[in-house]
Amino acid sequence: MTDAIALANTKLTITENFSEVEKLAVIDLDQDNYVHQPKAVDISDVLAFLGCRTPKLWLTAALADLPTIIQDHANCEKKAAGTAMNLIFRYMSHTELQLKLAQLIREEMLHYEQVMGLMAERGQVWQHIPAGRYAAGMLKHKRTFEPAAMVDVLIIGAFIEARSCERFAALADVVDDERLAKYYRYLLKSESRHFEDYLALARSISEEDITDRVNFFRDVENDLITTPDNELRFHSGVPNWLTT
Ligand SMILES: [Fe+2]
Ligand SMILES: [Fe+2]
Repeated sequence: MTDAIALANTKLTITENFSEVEKLAVIDLDQDNYVHQPKAVDISDVLAFLGCRTPKLWLTAALADLPTIIQDHANCEKKAAGTAMNLIFRYMSHTELQLKLAQLIREEMLHYEQVMGLMAERGQVWQHIPAGRYAAGMLKHKRTFEPAAMVDVLIIGAFIEARSCERFAALADVVDDERLAKYYRYLLKSESRHFEDYLALARSISEEDITDRVNFFRDVENDLITTPDNELRFHSGVPNWLTT
């Protein structure tokens, strides 16, 4: 049984102060309302693939505005599932893609439920936050013919998953909330596997070696992460209000 399924089978916490909808959203991570210490996950492949670490100033801004990070994290989980579902409908003939992305969608939706649960626990109200520049900044370079378009979307997916993994690890080390830190560590295992799955699919579907394309998107991604950004999002760049 995977960690994800084990968590899905845990009980729902009923908290008197929450609304009926919030009660349903609260997933207890174990019977004592306690997140067990996740097993250590080796993310060295993720770090090597990314090529750059999250800037310290992003972490400073994130810690100063955790509600925005948590809200955007919820949005990211939902978008990750939605993007994968679009791929499943668009590329019906790829069995490996169907199977890997079906599992990914289940896990992303479980994460979505869990983040909504954490928001309810923290008394955080749902807020509309528009998407940042990150995914669009990579997708605008997607080629327009097949199978190159599919390969590019899969490579971009690998970068988004890898960066998520790297940011969860970085946040877990500094966040002043042990429950949140443990939840972020718990996510490392699935997000690093999602990165590997997207990269393996890109390799298997491409008609040519993808090294040059990966290197191209690494430069684009690193630029989005290390240059000034006027918004704080889970995947945003260096907060420009802290650089002046
Ligand atoms: Fe996720
Ligand atoms: Fe993921």
